[in-house]
Amino acid sequence: MKDLDRRNFLKLGLLSTAAALSTNSANASGKDSSGGIENGKPLQKYLAKKYTNLLGGALKGFSDKQLTAHFALYEGYITKINDLEARIKSFDTNNPDTINYRGWHLDQTSMLNGAVLHELYFGNLGASNKELKGTLKKMINRDFGSLESLIGHLKTVGKIFHGWSLAALNYRTGKINVYGLERHNLNVPTMVHPILVLDAYEHAYMIDYGTDKKKYLDAFIADVDWKPVEERLEQALSIPFGEAVTV
Ligand SMILES: [Fe+2]
Repeated sequence: MKDLDRRNFLKLGLLSTAAALSTNSANASGKDSSGGIENGKPLQKYLAKKYTNLLGGALKGFSDKQLTAHFALYEGYITKINDLEARIKSFDTNNPDTINYRGWHLDQTSMLNGAVLHELYFGNLGASNKELKGTLKKMINRDFGSLESLIGHLKTVGKIFHGWSLAALNYRTGKINVYGLERHNLNVPTMVHPILVLDAYEHAYMIDYGTDKKKYLDAFIADVDWKPVEERLEQALSIPFGEAVTV
C-alpha cells in the first residue's frame, strides 16, 4: 500500500491494524489501480458489457423481459457515445458553424453518463452477497447511523428524482453521501465516486411494476449485491482525497 493510501485510511479512523489495511486496499484485492486501463493504454472505443448473469430468474424482482429491454437501451448509449466522440474529435474548430458541435457536446455528457451509470447499476445487482461487511459497513454506520438510514435516503431520492439516485464517496470530505440526478447529465456531482447506483427512470421498472415505483425501489434494494459496492469503495479509498482534491 502506498503511503498516501495509508494516510487516507488512517484519516478515516476506521481501521486499526496493519492487517486490516492490507486486506482493504484496492491493490491487495488484486485490482488494477490504474482505473481499469491496463498498461496505460487508453481504450480505443467503448464496448458494451454483458449482464446475462442477471437473467433466468437470478434476480427476485426483475423479469428477463424487463432486463433485456434495459440492456438494449444501455447498448444504445454505448453506440452513441462512440459515434459522438468520433464526431467531436474530427470537428474543425476553425469552422464558425458550431450548432451541431454544441449538440454533440451536450449529448456526449448524456450518453457517457448514461452508459457508465447503467454499468454501475447492473453491476450492483445480483443474487449473492446480501450481507454488509467490513469498511463499507463501518463507513455507512459512521455517515448514516445505519444501513436502513442510507437505504431510506437512497429510496427517497429515487422516488422524487426522475434520473438516478446514487450513494458515493465524496473525495472532498471523505464521507459517503446520497445524490439525486434528474437526468444523466443534470445535477451531476463532481469529485465523488459512486459506489451504489439506482436507476430511477421509468424504463427501469415499467414492464414489471407499471407505475408502482415503491415496489420497484423495494425490489431493487432486495436485489443489491453488496460485494461490488464494497469493491468500489475500496477503489475510491485508494485515491487521495481531502483538501488536495481542489488544489
Ligand atoms: Fe436505465
